[in-house]
Amino acid sequence: MEGLWAPGVLLLSCLLLPSPAGTQPNPDPRLRTDPGEAPSPHHDASQPLPQINMTILKGEKGDRGERGMQGKFGKTGVAGSRGHAGPKGQKGSVGAPGESCKSHYAAFSVGRKKPLHSNDYYQTLIFDTEFVNLYNHFNMFTGKFYCYVPGIYYFSLNVHTWNQKETYLHIMRNGSEVVILYAQVSDRSIMQSQSVMLELREQDEVWVRLYKGERENAVFSDEYDTYITFSGHLIKYSGDP
Ligand SMILES: *[C@@H]1O[C@H](CO)[C@@H](O)[C@H](O)[C@H]1NC(C)=O
Ligand SMILES: *[C@@H]1O[C@H](CO)[C@@H](O)[C@H](O)[C@H]1NC(C)=O
Repeated sequence: MEGLWAPGVLLLSCLLLPSPAGTQPNPDPRLRTDPGEAPSPHHDASQPLPQINMTILKGEKGDRGERGMQGKFGKTGVAGSRGHAGPKGQKGSVGAPGESCKSHYAAFSVGRKKPLHSNDYYQTLIFDTEFVNLYNHFNMFTGKFYCYVPGIYYFSLNVHTWNQKETYLHIMRNGSEVVILYAQVSDRSIMQSQSVMLELREQDEVWVRLYKGERENAVFSDEYDTYITFSGHLIKYSGDP
């Protein structure tokens, strides 16, 4: 019965079936795979078995995979230390020209040597003598002071009355009467004056007007003395704080 067993059949049966005790001289079938090799009676079951060389089974290296998605941003790092001071910059360009220095002055003082009397109509008192006329703000032809510098001004008017005649004038601002200078008819002629402060705006006009009265209206003067004066000056420029 034993003699019919081919070595391969023996191996198969030994792998699949538990060997009946006593029927086989050597229980390890692997030792019988090589018939030429004598079975070792001293074989130890704890000896490592032959390993299959995995390198042989390994396939060829595959293609490179696709690139993965970008990872999350990392945390913000700590601020670095202050750098070195840079070199000095170049000189800047020249700025725009400033506003021309406007003169904040105004002053005039004018007089009249010729007497004037009239009862015909309102008329502007014209002056013939220039004492002071800073920047020509007082126009000698029109008899009016023109405000170029807005602000508070002081004006004064001095006249000499004419005996037996009324003296009736106004200091005017544009077309409006501001203050009156008045003297009744008298047999004595006297000096009479009026003064006022005005807050003027640019282009305002200040002048003296003879009133159109029922009586003869007059101011006296003569070629030897200047009896009539009109003066004014800026006290405070409105642009100043
Ligand atoms: C496995 O096989 C490869 C290729 O034949 C060989 O280079 C390698 O030395 C073998 N490794 C072992 C442990 O036998
Ligand atoms: C006075 O007249 C001038 C010129 O017409 C004008 O510009 C100015 O506003 C007037 N002033 C007043 C207070 O009406």
